[in-house]
Amino acid sequence: MSKKSLAETKRCYHVQGGTTLKGRIQTEGAKNAVLPLLAASLLTDEPLELSNVPQVEDVHTMVSMLTELGKKVSISEDVYRIEENGDLQPNAPYELVRRMRASFNVLGPLIARLGQAQVPLPGGCVLGPRPVDFHVKGLQALGADIKLQEGVFHATSTQLKGAELYLDFPSVGATHQLLTTAALIPEKTVIYNPAQEPEVYELIYLLKKMGAQISTAPDRIEIIGQQKLSGTNYRVIPDRINAGTYLIAGAISGGEIVVECIPGHLEALLVKLREMGFTVEERDTEVRLATSVKAKGIHLETRTYPGFACDIHPQMMALMALAEGDSLIRETVLADRFGQVPELVRMGADIKAQENTAFIKGVDQLQGTEVYATDIRSGAALILAGLAAKGETRMVDSGHVPRGYVDLAGKLSKVGASIEVEMI
Ligand code: EPU
Repeated sequence: MSKKSLAETKRCYHVQGGTTLKGRIQTEGAKNAVLPLLAASLLTDEPLELSNVPQVEDVHTMVSMLTELGKKVSISEDVYRIEENGDLQPNAPYELVRRMRASFNVLGPLIARLGQAQVPLPGGCVLGPRPVDFHVKGLQALGADIKLQEGVFHATSTQLKGAELYLDFPSVGATHQLLTTAALIPEKTVIYNPAQEPEVYELIYLLKKMGAQISTAPDRIEIIGQQKLSGTNYRVIPDRINAGTYLIAGAISGGEIVVECIPGHLEALLVKLREMGFTVEERDTEVRLATSVKAKGIHLETRTYPGFACDIHPQMMALMALAEGDSLIRETVLADRFGQVPELVRMGADIKAQENTAFIKGVDQLQGTEVYATDIRSGAALILAGLAAKGETRMVDSGHVPRGYVDLAGKLSKVGASIEVEMI
């Protein structure tokens, strides 16, 4: 296994500001939906075929993880076929868990399939501390014995059992972890206060196709698993966070853009864009955004779905930096999602962050300079800010943006942006 993934190669995005975007962007499959679907392939010894899989680095990391654990993954364009390749292995390599927190979600499926697993604690993260206590508590309630020794969770179980589980916070990752595990327990499990993100529903639909019985209510998910699950095929939904990024790119450039996506997954964003003064029209499988007046400042607070997604707030912050009047973003989901703040300030934005709140006073112009991505979404936000800035913005990224976007620079360039990517 290579010690350094392609994603970790440094890139410099040279963005020339001042172009107006116009055209249509097709949104790739949803990264945060496909990662748990790939992990769910561990639940069965039959082939699983996923289509509309985005070619992003996080998907490549998960494929490497599955390969290490004993699966064979054949790729034909956006179709990934995952088959068993000999005996499954219970050890998840730290090198892969370190790169991506979502790879921790192999823990439950491995316990359910093998009765044992060794998975390292995911490393620290630029988005603030992100514990895994809900995952561990839930798996213990399902009958797993889990001990943390020298940074690695050692899990065993002779017989998993159904249970009533409650999440203190509707965590997306913990809901995925517990759903996949419960799907292989032939008893009833109830998850109270689960995450309700579309990416959770994607996993539910897949597990149902694989044979699990699952019903949902606003406050819970009920699962009756099976002793054995079957293989199936599944097409992944478009990525709502990336679709939102493309719409905001159109907005910040003062342009007119059509983004192919599922409009219903973007309601909170679309309402906020209208509040800022943009014209937003929803059609069956696309959203059209047009600019006619200068954007107005607004307030927003991130929430779990259907609230405003924390993964779109950095991009909105770039837009608010140039809007008329005051804006405010309160982040309530992740401990620290403000990595873009000092970089936007270096471009001339007037933003003050205090604890979980950013106060933004709109300025007339941003100025291109050298800025750094601290995570996937801050990188995207800085590229968007560069579209509207005076002169050239050099956005240096040590591998975050390709983890979540398929050729972001190319997609934006096709609709009028001027972005060159240099490997450094
Ligand atoms: N939390 C705990 N204990 C746990 C699990 C979560 O305290 O055991 C807390 C976290 O610290 C955080 C909150 O619960 O404050 C929400 O975390 P969640 O578990 O929902 O996040 P996640 O599953 O780790 C996913 C996305 C993130 C996205 C968050 C929030 C994937 C692969 N990742 O992470 O996506 O920001 O949900 O919506 O689905 C991104 O795409 O850029 C990204 C970071």
